[in-house]
Amino acid sequence: MRVAVIGAGVIGLSTALCIYDQYHSAVQALEMEVYADRYTPLTTSDGAAGLWQPYSDDKRDTQEMLWNKETFDYLCGYLSSGEAEEMGLFPISGYNLFTHPVPDPPWKDIVLGFRKLTPKELQLFPGYSYGWFNTGLILEGKTYLPWLTQRLKQRGVKFFHKKIESFQEMVAQGVDVIVNCTGVHAGKLQPDPGLLPGRGQIIKVLAPWVKHFVVTHESTTYNSPYIIPGSKLVTLGGIFQVGNWNEENSPQDRKAIWENCCKVLPILKNAKIVDEWSGLRPVRDTVRLERDVVYHGPLKSEVIHNYGHGGFGLTIHWGCAMEAAKIFGRILEEKKLVQPPQSRL
Ligand code: FAD
Ligand code: BEZ
Repeated sequence: MRVAVIGAGVIGLSTALCIYDQYHSAVQALEMEVYADRYTPLTTSDGAAGLWQPYSDDKRDTQEMLWNKETFDYLCGYLSSGEAEEMGLFPISGYNLFTHPVPDPPWKDIVLGFRKLTPKELQLFPGYSYGWFNTGLILEGKTYLPWLTQRLKQRGVKFFHKKIESFQEMVAQGVDVIVNCTGVHAGKLQPDPGLLPGRGQIIKVLAPWVKHFVVTHESTTYNSPYIIPGSKLVTLGGIFQVGNWNEENSPQDRKAIWENCCKVLPILKNAKIVDEWSGLRPVRDTVRLERDVVYHGPLKSEVIHNYGHGGFGLTIHWGCAMEAAKIFGRILEEKKLVQPPQSRL
């Protein structure tokens, strides 16, 4: 059984690990390969701030909220394991700020200690009249991706630095199952008009005195200032440009991020700017996590698509990886490579 995962961001690596760990002992000779044209530290997942926080509107799929919860609970399990630091994982508390009252978010019972802000807390943030406080998690891609990669290498998974031009290329090589984790570029392998880039830009600053995250909600999701402390540097952001494929840093966006974040948190003014980055969120109305088949002449391969995680890939990744592994299990059952769950008892 030959499995090729395309993509080495948080989605590709976690899906590869989840599938391998669930099935390597059940399937004889499970060969797993990862193909990617960008590896850590150069993927979108590396640049993300790493805050566990789903979108706050209730228009998203309820299935997605379950995957978010599974990820949160899975990561919480690591907090007391001694492994958390190597994973780039730590708890963090902070504020979501609004200019008017809003309904509670669908994730309020997933995070820890969710509550509304008191009038005294709101006095800290002039211009905002409503907000929430909660404890969540940071999962830093720049640390988590090497951690996932090391685990995959220990298991004998092979890595190839290669751009895949078509699924047919994989079918022709005799791959049985292709796992498509190509993020914002998925449309190049199979057209998907529902998938768009959501360009973001961030600044990294040295400001160890900033201890809480602050996410403001003045306009659409993540298009207003946010401040998110990491293990060493604080991420300043607030750019979300749908349809913009430009991965260059823009001086105008840098100026807007800096000025707007300093307005929200004036103690940032003395912070040293250390780095700057732009990346493309894979924006889609829903995550595409489903089975498909591709043909090349008389040959065919099964495909599991897992892409379109917008601005919440780290937040949702493990729930999606487990769902992809379930789909993989069904493919194995149909190929009579494993017993269906009830007959395994
Ligand atoms: P990627 O990390 O982009 O990985 C895609 C992989 O596919 C790469 O390895 C690429 O090389 C490979 N690939 C694509 N096409 C091909 C091909 N044809 N052949 C070979 N390889 C291919 N999310 C959060 O949960 N919390 C946050 O705080 C957060 N902050 C963010 C801040 C910014 C500014 C941005 C831009 C995003 C943020 N996100 C955040 C969102 C998060 O970064 C994405 O949802 C996530 O990185 C998507 O992961 P991915 O693995 O699908 O994509
Ligand atoms: C972002 O996509 O920019 C983002 C996502 C989650 C938390 C903060 C920012």
